Amino acid sequence: MRTQIVIIGSGPSGLLLGQLLSDAGISNIVLDRVGKDYILGRVRAGVLEEGTVELIDRAKSGTRMHVEGLPHDGFSLVFDGRDHRIDLTGLTGGKRVMVYGQTELTRDLMERRETSGGESIYDASNVQPHDFDGNSPYVTYEKDGTTHRIDCDFIAGCDGFHGVSRKSIPERSLRVFEKVYPFGWLGILADVPPVNHELIYANHPRGFALCSMRSATRSRYYVQCALDQKIEDWSDDRFWDELRRRLPPHHADAVITGPSFEKSIAPLRSFVAEPMRFGRLFLVGDAAHIVPPTGAKGLNLAASDVHYLFSGLAEHYRDGSDKGINAYSARALSRVWKAVRFSWWMTTIMHRFPDTGEFDQRIQETELDYLTHSRAASTVLAENYVGLPY
Ligand code: FAD
Ligand code: DHB
Repeated sequence: MRTQIVIIGSGPSGLLLGQLLSDAGISNIVLDRVGKDYILGRVRAGVLEEGTVELIDRAKSGTRMHVEGLPHDGFSLVFDGRDHRIDLTGLTGGKRVMVYGQTELTRDLMERRETSGGESIYDASNVQPHDFDGNSPYVTYEKDGTTHRIDCDFIAGCDGFHGVSRKSIPERSLRVFEKVYPFGWLGILADVPPVNHELIYANHPRGFALCSMRSATRSRYYVQCALDQKIEDWSDDRFWDELRRRLPPHHADAVITGPSFEKSIAPLRSFVAEPMRFGRLFLVGDAAHIVPPTGAKGLNLAASDVHYLFSGLAEHYRDGSDKGINAYSARALSRVWKAVRFSWWMTTIMHRFPDTGEFDQRIQETELDYLTHSRAASTVLAENYVGLPY
């Protein structure tokens, strides 16, 4: 088999890149080690920046998102019993975010790929990129007891943090930066109306909490938890009690509880691998970098990587120029590091760390007080939250 680009990974970055390439007449095959249903069973990100929304529209995959997605003009920061609204739209000259689940976005991208005749191979085991430091890269995989080979011009490693792409690059050629946080997020989904029409980020001496949503009837809630805790330790009742304790009374009293139908614990990590290109292999999205979810940046960074890589590849095939692909890693990393910094900072001011004492709690509350009362500081928060331009 031969194609122009092999895309390893059928998550949002692989599917978005594949669609943009297909629509530009550049052939590609998407490979994933698991099946569609498994991918659609993952519950992850929920907040899309305008740049991500534009890219999804460019890939002609935004119809349902514009009907069912919830545009948000602001969010609440609560701390020390206080509640402050960050007016995203007012502070950024008209920008907003879109609340639309990653699961739904992935479903839309998969459907668009199917209807436009794009080729995806699911349940492909032992996917391996080869010879990407030369001019004739290829990818092998096993399916139904047979080994297959796809020759290509370039390989896009869109296979997430645990994928094979980054691990295939010689260790000495990558520089890795990492910070692991000493807590996780316990998240639930429940078919109950959200407590508030906008998101609530809560700093509390008992730990961070986040009130998000998927629709007017489906809520997504998170509480910070210790890393050694197990899902089995968290009955629904315990979750709802803990969430309410971390919210000021007017929100706590408004929480509508009900049975959860999804519950999971995610560890928090900052991670960057540099550079994001090795020969003819490009790393995209979580394959190259991870951010803690506090700033809602993971999926949005995957989208900006896709934008830079797609532009470079389109330039290569259309104009015969390698300028864009040569600049890919530096352009992507410049934006990645700003989001890594923002996510780290949001995590630092919003969570309780094992060594957070009364002094540190006061410092956090004072920073939040300053942040919510200084227009300059609120603007810094808002312009990072809605997403830096690209
Ligand atoms: P992924 O979505 O990870 O997709 C990678 C794909 O590659 C997968 O389908 C996988 O099956 C496939 N793959 C992996 N290895 C191989 C292989 N060897 N061969 C073939 N295919 C392979 N971000 C937020 O903004 N907010 C959140 O609340 C949030 N919560 C998260 C919770 C969890 C548990 C995780 C893991 C991430 C979360 N994120 C969140 C981050 C966000 O979901 C990611 O940034 C986003 O999924 C990145 O997309 P991606 O396509 O780069 O990678
Ligand atoms: C969601 C997740 C986030 O990490 C975040 O900052 C905001 C919302 C969500 O899942 O809805």
